[in-house]
Amino acid sequence: MASRPHVFIARRLPVIVESLLGDTCDLEVWPEDLPPSADILRAKIADCDGLVSLLTDRIDEPLLASAPKLKVVSNFAVGYNNIDIAAATRRGVLVGNTPNALDEATADTAVMLLLAASRRLLESATAAKGGRWKTWEPMGWIGQDLRGKTLGIVGMGRIGFATAQRLHRAWGMRVIYTKRTPSQEAEQLSGAKRVEMDELLRTSDFVSVHCSLNDETKGLFGSAAFGKMKPTAVFVNTSRGPVVDQVALAEALRSGKIFAAGLDVTDPEPLPPTHELFALPNCTIVPHIASATTWTRNEMGRICAENLLAGLRGDPMISCVNPEAKESR
Ligand code: GLV
Repeated sequence: MASRPHVFIARRLPVIVESLLGDTCDLEVWPEDLPPSADILRAKIADCDGLVSLLTDRIDEPLLASAPKLKVVSNFAVGYNNIDIAAATRRGVLVGNTPNALDEATADTAVMLLLAASRRLLESATAAKGGRWKTWEPMGWIGQDLRGKTLGIVGMGRIGFATAQRLHRAWGMRVIYTKRTPSQEAEQLSGAKRVEMDELLRTSDFVSVHCSLNDETKGLFGSAAFGKMKPTAVFVNTSRGPVVDQVALAEALRSGKIFAAGLDVTDPEPLPPTHELFALPNCTIVPHIASATTWTRNEMGRICAENLLAGLRGDPMISCVNPEAKESR
């Protein structure tokens, strides 16, 4: 009988991952709270057939080269910018991700940040707790209204659409968006209109970013973009940190070029507590928690484990970002 595949799991994950993999694979789980270093990861996967990776693990060509038996990298995330996909494909390593599972939780987080930033939640709650709540202030803590405003979605994929639906249905927002190809679903169900980036920036009251990180989107939000936005605009990012030039964002928030920002993602992660964005009262930052709900993390675990098993068996995976890697095996 063929020996059981060796699989390294780069962090403790929802129990479903080990339950699904444990029957057929020999597992080693990284037990620490912080990710394994590159050297440790290299040593751990040297003899592995499968790897369950996280977005904090950098999977590059040298690492893949040091794991000659590796057939599948199953990323516990929908984003896979931590993985050199071209290198994996060249080496015949299939890469899986977990789309769909986190659409709703991430859209909820985008709305949460949008509300928090618009209504100065962090700033006012901190003031209340810090003894600076002196009276009911008729002119204090004034924020932005949501009803009937214009929402600009940058990247109308599944998460962008789920965000647009929430804000369109609940607050009657007019939705405009950017995307390479039109989204019939968003146009029919949210009355969304596809526009150029320039128009989106100039006319949106809220800008919510949902594009993936790639060469085209890296630094997409720099001083030119923030300079076009309304002084009352609220900026929300639940995609990836490097889409934003944080120096430009800090300047835009400080100088009042935009009203406020809500960020689930930063560059780097974690963002050092001394970073200037943390010092700005109109910037709300949470530590990349968009998918952090019980159902979502379990479902990500299920998809991640199923992807790994299917890839090892040579069956179609639930979601594979480079099925063509099979040709290089
Ligand atoms: C989270 O950011 C993910 O890509 O799953």
